[in-house]
Amino acid sequence: MIDRRGSGSAKWDAVKDDTIPLWVADMDFPCLPELREVLVRRAEHPFYGYKAHSPEYYEAIRRWYQTQHGLEIPRLHILSGPGTVLSLGMVVREFSREGDGVLLLTPVYTPFFEVVRENRRRVVEVPFDTTPAGSFILEMEKIERAVEKAEEAGIKVPLALFCSPHNPGGRVWTEEEIAAFLAFAEKRNIMVAVDEIHCDFVYGESGRFVSAASFEGYADRIIVVSGANKSFNLGGLHISHFVIRDDRLRGIIKTALHRETHHEGDVFAELAVETVYRCGAAWIGELRRYLRQNILAAAQFLNTEVPGVRAFVPGGTYLIWADVRGLIEKTGCGDDAELARRLEDTAKVKITPGSMYGQAGSGYARINIASPRSLLLEGLRRIKGIAKS
Ligand SMILES: Cc1ncc(COP(=O)(O)O)c(C=O)c1O
Repeated sequence: MIDRRGSGSAKWDAVKDDTIPLWVADMDFPCLPELREVLVRRAEHPFYGYKAHSPEYYEAIRRWYQTQHGLEIPRLHILSGPGTVLSLGMVVREFSREGDGVLLLTPVYTPFFEVVRENRRRVVEVPFDTTPAGSFILEMEKIERAVEKAEEAGIKVPLALFCSPHNPGGRVWTEEEIAAFLAFAEKRNIMVAVDEIHCDFVYGESGRFVSAASFEGYADRIIVVSGANKSFNLGGLHISHFVIRDDRLRGIIKTALHRETHHEGDVFAELAVETVYRCGAAWIGELRRYLRQNILAAAQFLNTEVPGVRAFVPGGTYLIWADVRGLIEKTGCGDDAELARRLEDTAKVKITPGSMYGQAGSGYARINIASPRSLLLEGLRRIKGIAKS
């Protein structure tokens, strides 16, 4: 356990000293040791001038897809990006116009809403139904109806943002589900941006990660945005990549990247990605095993010890999604946002209220389990404390 307070950590600096932060998707584990060594060595070289994109960086991404996900991606189909959310914003601007609708399946990662609304597009939202075990269901008929309704109201829907694996909830979409979504997109002539940033956190028994980039038949409507920053906790380095199989689409994004960012390599970020992908396979394998045990321990604790909470075991991501409606009622809080505030102010544990991910998430909460187990369990005991008081 390394104290991160005062290190400029968004996760830790947002809370008071004695509060346990189980919110933003940032892990409390020191980085891959080789990464630190490589960055320190580079920092010691006293030149930080402009950096050309390095072939080694692209090669490391290509190899990672090949070895971790069994997917062959030609090096030229990979573009470097300035962060996943910024890249999604770029896709929104390129593939829709002001006033258009952008399809979101909700609850979903808050910036999905922001990149739509802040670019003056409208959210066309389809809330998931869930199985009794709390797993989100992709209901193609319901999705199609929502698009039809928007179009009947005069709102064009040229673009969908799809999260795979899904945050929150941790659904790992199957090959059949992704294919069904893409077939619908084809039928409706909708472009699909697929955010695959959680792709390295899929737990064996929940199936395997299937990249949208493997659906070559739909290549002319798919833009994959991803990066090493969830897998290796590099959020502060602001780097991502696109995988775009279609030449025309890649050309559009290349131009947009140039216009919006004049994007050249970052001296540290590209080196970091290259290093983690080159050296990090064993590290992330071990991390996945640890996180899986954390997920199971946290779900077990919440479901047996904390009245009013029903936690679901996610198939992917390191984020637990929990139904907290019972706890809201027990504590007399008006909603999930008030419960989260009460937990932070009184119980000293910070979680994310589900309504942050859209109305469909209200009554739920998201808990980040990527901390040393003792810290995580102490955070959960604090939630239990408020259930009792
Ligand atoms: C689905 C999803 N996309 C993107 C991001 C953030 O990516 P970036 O920091 O590269 O913008 C996150 C972070 O939690 C996420 O969950």
